[in-house]
Amino acid sequence: MVDVATTSAVETPIPDLGDGQALVQVQYLSIDPTIRTWMDDVPSYRPPIGLGEVVRSIGGGEVVESRSDRYKVGDRVVGMTGWQEYCVADEGLESMSVVPAGLDLPVAMNVLGVTGITAHVGLLKIGAMKEGDVVVVSGAAGATGSMVGQIASLKGASQVVGIAGGPEKCTLLTGTMKFDAAIDYKAGDVARQLLELCPEGMDVYFDNVGGEILEAALADLAMHARVVMCGAISGYNAMERPHGPSNLYNLIVKRARMEGFIVSDHMAEWGAIQAELAGWLLEGKLYHSEHIVEGLDHAPEALNLLFTGSNTGKVLVKVS
Ligand SMILES: NC(=O)c1ccc[n+]([C@@H]2O[C@H](COP(=O)([O-])OP(=O)(O)OC[C@H]3O[C@@H](n4cnc5c(N)ncnc54)[C@H](OP(=O)(O)O)[C@@H]3O)[C@@H](O)[C@H]2O)c1
Repeated sequence: MVDVATTSAVETPIPDLGDGQALVQVQYLSIDPTIRTWMDDVPSYRPPIGLGEVVRSIGGGEVVESRSDRYKVGDRVVGMTGWQEYCVADEGLESMSVVPAGLDLPVAMNVLGVTGITAHVGLLKIGAMKEGDVVVVSGAAGATGSMVGQIASLKGASQVVGIAGGPEKCTLLTGTMKFDAAIDYKAGDVARQLLELCPEGMDVYFDNVGGEILEAALADLAMHARVVMCGAISGYNAMERPHGPSNLYNLIVKRARMEGFIVSDHMAEWGAIQAELAGWLLEGKLYHSEHIVEGLDHAPEALNLLFTGSNTGKVLVKVS
């Protein structure tokens, strides 16, 4: 877990803008488990955050000064802001997206942001979920998992099962979010419960947590199942690499496929996905919640909420 010594607050002057740049006052930070993985000094899909560098993070805010045709003063934008009060938006590869007027910034950063898009890409493209499939998702009451289960229902899954920590989260899943069933992994024996709930096996397993829950899921695959590797949060704070699942052979027996993905590789589809998510949102078909922590100083604590499971919904830090 990060602690008070992991980060420190530093004041630096606001940079002068070059042509094509805009100054953004950061209002919200998206607190994502992957930030913790970037803090490890190991190769990943992005380089580690270097010592003394601003913590890399998605954020959203308002353009307060502009020398760019892309960004107008007053625009609200979402992109890689970092954990800071002001950042510079560029027009290049890491340019920021402008949030449509009238859309709440936290919602834009949750359902219509990386969270909702990850769920959609992972379930429908990587998992190739189709009508009638049995879908199981871990981390089900979290930001991404709750979107996965609800999208699966909207797309006609025959059964949606969520795995989450504790009876309250399970009640939220089967009540408000209308999952068909929920398994409290903290009460134990996930493998047995999966076999009981899905006797024919699952067609899509969307994994957010890895570890023992992944192993339990691999024991209950249907023929030609798709195992979507979205995250492995149970190992992000581990000091040693956890042992892999002992039953990977089951992928062979079930002619199953296991595939990892990174949502930013699918940016060409983001616009179409956002349109579909926005439609469901307007129709009131997607339950969502944002867990807002006040103050940039509290960003490290906010990150830790994800690992203790103390978050209810998408964790955001309100900066200003
Ligand atoms: N591949 C991609 O492009 C991509 C993009 C975004 C997110 N992700 C991944 O998606 C996953 C979910 O991210 P999120 O932002 O939506 O976070 P989140 O689900 O809102 O929060 C994390 C949840 O993980 C659960 N958890 C923590 N430690 C656990 C453990 N040891 N065993 C089982 N569950 C544990 C906790 O729920 P409980 O109370 O139920 O334990 C916690 O609430 C993460 O693995 C993240 O890395 C991947």
